[in-house]
Amino acid sequence: MIIEKPKFYSNHRGRVKSLDCYENNLDLNKYNKDEENLLDIGFGNGESIKYFCQKTEKNIFAIDSYSIGIKKIKDYIDKNKIPNVHIFKGDAVEILEFFPDRFFNKINIFFPDPWPKKKHHKRRIINEYFLNLLKEKTKEKNIIHISTDHINYGLYIKTQIEKNFKIELKFSPNRGARPITKFEEKALSKKRIILDLIFNL
Ligand SMILES: C[S@@+](CC[C@H](N)C(=O)[O-])C[C@H]1O[C@@H](n2cnc3c(N)ncnc32)[C@H](O)[C@@H]1O
Repeated sequence: MIIEKPKFYSNHRGRVKSLDCYENNLDLNKYNKDEENLLDIGFGNGESIKYFCQKTEKNIFAIDSYSIGIKKIKDYIDKNKIPNVHIFKGDAVEILEFFPDRFFNKINIFFPDPWPKKKHHKRRIINEYFLNLLKEKTKEKNIIHISTDHINYGLYIKTQIEKNFKIELKFSPNRGARPITKFEEKALSKKRIILDLIFNL
C-alpha cells in the first residue's frame, strides 16, 4: 500500500533541496552504520541536546525549524567545541528523507506541537507517513521516545502507532532518559499531565 506524503510537508515550509544547505561538508555516509546515532526532532531551545551531549559520546543529529533555538545551540556548540552534534534547520520530515535507511538507534521527539484545533490536525508531525519514515530510518534495534503534555495528542499518537504497526502500546510509567526542559516545567506549573511513549518500531 502506498502511503501518500501529506501536503503539509511539501507546502507549509519551504522544501529542502539538499542537506548541504544546513551543514557544510557533512557526509552522512561517513558515519559508520554501526556507530550510535541519536536524532532529536524539534529540540526548541536545545536543552535536550546540551543534556545528551554531556552524557554520551554518540553522534547527535538534531532538527528544528526554529531560528532562535538553532542560533542558541549553534553558539553553544561552537563555544564548547562540541564535535558530535549536527544541527539541521528545516522541516524534520523533509530532512529525514535525506538520511540513509537504517541509520538511527534512537529518535527523540519531545513535546511535538499538538495543533489542538481539529482543522489543524493535518499539521501534526505524527501521522502514518511520518511513522513509516521513522521506521525506515531506524536500525532494527531502535528506541523511539515521544512525549507530550497534551492528553488528546498523546492518545492520538498512541492510536496512530498501534494502528500502523499492529502493536499494542502502553504509556511509559517513567520519563526514560528525557531531561526536564523549561517547556516541561511550564506545562507542570499549569498542572498538565506529561505522557511518554517509549517503544521499538
Ligand atoms: C513545543 S516545542 C518543544 C521543544 C523541546 N523539544 C522541549 O522539550 O523543550 C516543539 C518544537 O518542534 C519544532 N517543530 C515543530 N514541527 C517541526 C517540523 N515539522 N520540523 C522541525 N521542527 C519542528 C518547533 O519549531 C519547536 O521548536
